[in-house]
Amino acid sequence: MHSMQLNGRLVNFEAGQTLLEVARANEVPIPTLCHHPGLESHGGCRLCVVEVTRAEWDGWWRMVSACEFPAADDLIVATESERLSRTRRNVVDLLLARCPETPFTVALGRDFGLAKSSLAPRAEPDDCILCGLCVRVCAAVGAHAIAGADRGVHKQVGPPYAPPSFERPPGLAPAGDCIGCLCCAEICPTGHIRYENNAQGREIWGRSFRVVECASCGAPLGTPEQLDHFAARSGLSRDYFERCDACSKLDTARAFDQQVMGEGTS
Ligand code: SF4
Ligand code: SF4
Ligand code: FES
Repeated sequence: MHSMQLNGRLVNFEAGQTLLEVARANEVPIPTLCHHPGLESHGGCRLCVVEVTRAEWDGWWRMVSACEFPAADDLIVATESERLSRTRRNVVDLLLARCPETPFTVALGRDFGLAKSSLAPRAEPDDCILCGLCVRVCAAVGAHAIAGADRGVHKQVGPPYAPPSFERPPGLAPAGDCIGCLCCAEICPTGHIRYENNAQGREIWGRSFRVVECASCGAPLGTPEQLDHFAARSGLSRDYFERCDACSKLDTARAFDQQVMGEGTS
């Protein structure tokens, strides 16, 4: 077992854990934005900064992203300080300038004591804080349909290889590899990724999809592309994905019941 100091307390950790994981395991809060426990860390937002030092560093310290930095023996970690509060407020200040009217950033600003940004708001703001969660979840699903595109103030997420956003009218770059699974829209903290489920099916990223219904109860399941993709990726049969969770569980329970009843009467 390894150990390090966290806010003056000796804590244990396992090899491979990040500072964020160790802090959470010890109920020490660290704010995060671009981190999701199910995805690779990205270290993009810098809201999770903490200070690290070692006894032999003679008073020197480093500010690091807790979601990426590996825990190490004899590390001395502080999650709260005046410097950290200032850095986190600066991050939130920038996000508020980028998305001044987005409810998510406005609420975040309030949490950090900022009613509005000290910087000039972006000329044509949208709701994207560039946390990259949508891109990473799409990669984790295996679709790789969206990516970060453009640079500077034009930076955005969207289909790869699309023309720069300032050279094309909005909505004219459908994501060709999208399977319509909605994972990106569901993980997006700000609601920036719009989609629609309607009588014809599903619309997202400039694409229209048909929606397959559960073979037993008729509940909407997903797009045919999504079901094909999951079947191919998992190696399970397509049939497996053609029933909703509730119906699959019911079938399993019935089969189990029949088996037990059969054994009871034999
Ligand atoms: S809906 Fe499309 S873009 Fe979004 S995660 Fe699924 S495949 Fe990727
Ligand atoms: S669209 Fe949403 S999830 Fe994707 S980078 Fe922007 S804010 Fe993050
Ligand atoms: S949560 Fe760690 S850098 Fe964003």
